[in-house]
Amino acid sequence: MNIQRKDLGQRRSEAPSVQDYLDREKRQVPTYLRDNAYTYQGSEDLPAERWYSREFYDSEIKHVWPRTWQLVCVEEELAQPGDYVVYDIVHWSFIVVRRSDGTLGAYYNSCMHRATRLCDAAAGHATEFRCPFHGWVHSIDGYVSEITCEWDFDHLDEQARQMPRAQVDTWQGLVFINMDPAAPSLREYIGNLDDAFARYPLTSKRKSAHVQKPLPCNWKIALEQFIEAYHVIATHPEGLPYIGDANAQYNIWPDNDHVSRMHTLHSVASPHVGDRYSEQEKLDIITDISDKAGTQKRRIVLPEGMSTREFLAEERRRLLKEEYGLDCSELTDAEMLDTIHYFIFPNIVVWTAYGSPIIYRFRPHMDDPRRSVMDVMFMTPFDTSKPRPPSAEIDYLSAESSWTEAKSLGRMGWVFDQDTSNAPLVQAGVMASGKRAVSLGNYQEARIRHFHHTLDKYINNEPLNLGGPNPRS
Ligand code: FES
Ligand SMILES: [Fe+2]
Repeated sequence: MNIQRKDLGQRRSEAPSVQDYLDREKRQVPTYLRDNAYTYQGSEDLPAERWYSREFYDSEIKHVWPRTWQLVCVEEELAQPGDYVVYDIVHWSFIVVRRSDGTLGAYYNSCMHRATRLCDAAAGHATEFRCPFHGWVHSIDGYVSEITCEWDFDHLDEQARQMPRAQVDTWQGLVFINMDPAAPSLREYIGNLDDAFARYPLTSKRKSAHVQKPLPCNWKIALEQFIEAYHVIATHPEGLPYIGDANAQYNIWPDNDHVSRMHTLHSVASPHVGDRYSEQEKLDIITDISDKAGTQKRRIVLPEGMSTREFLAEERRRLLKEEYGLDCSELTDAEMLDTIHYFIFPNIVVWTAYGSPIIYRFRPHMDDPRRSVMDVMFMTPFDTSKPRPPSAEIDYLSAESSWTEAKSLGRMGWVFDQDTSNAPLVQAGVMASGKRAVSLGNYQEARIRHFHHTLDKYINNEPLNLGGPNPRS
């Protein structure tokens, strides 16, 4: 750090803020969107080795992955007893299954005999899990129900037949596990996000797409690009006419180490381009290159006196009503259009409202600090007057393929290509760095710093700020 100032972290873009735009809303703004908490996270450089060193990676394996709540799947995928999903993280693996009594179990995916990987499928339905090696049978309730030549194992008592398990819990219809039996509850860990999801619960949506792709970078490099809008100017320059990047709002609550938020305005020009575009020009650009307003081919003429933002929000209300029977008449323009998402430590990003229906998950790839796996899931509304459509199965892309090959992502595929094209360059760069450190913006990249502070707390076994009244309603 070169410069000492008293107001570090307090400066903001001079463009109208998210809160200024909320002031202009014609509908009542929910209290949670008015919460503009921010805690300065410091200005020191971070050592570049955090993104490539074996030592740092090993300390994450030792202290972070075995102690944190991690997203496995949506609960709908485990609807019936015997439905299971396998969750792999570094060298660990779990079978997360709907048990015969209707509760969820998360069992170490390893045979109770000689530890063979018990279930090698990603997901499915099973009445039992039979080991391919010697045939021991493990019930969906996590119990060894059958031992081949049982007479030879009379030294194993009832206790020795119980499969070790992880904690399992749900939030907003998402299934999480935690290997640490002493971990705080999922509710304490996430804190109070109830208000943030009350008007558009994830339980009222379905997983309509799920695409997974290996990336040639550390898992943190993959993640960090999605928790700031600072990269829009260089990575997504075509979005400048309609993405409020430099005036995005970043929220960090002092009593919650696991959660942070970003709110980026849509249909509002970037402060980098100012008022270069008229409202009609913005609409032309958005309707041509974005699918947010539908797929109309003819030019839409903006009604007199209406902003692009008001018009597109109204269009979305109409489309959601038409397509899913959803009444969004009380929801603000921000809730219809903006990117409002929460990072939940250590590795997921969850959107709320209707701006973008996405969940991201980032995991290390096995034993390699320089490779990772990214999941993109779309959580879209469905017509609740009809039977719930099944959750999408995973579409696996190779490391070399383009996100656009996944048809289920629609036109978002090329945006993800833009994002992840930086990944190998950042990985190469942190390893080549003569400065041997990275610098971060005090505000726009504060969530990255907050994420690293929490990583350090886990690695150094420091006390965590849990739950708390924030993010508050
Ligand atoms: S290792 Fe599973 S039955 Fe032998
Ligand atoms: Fe991006």
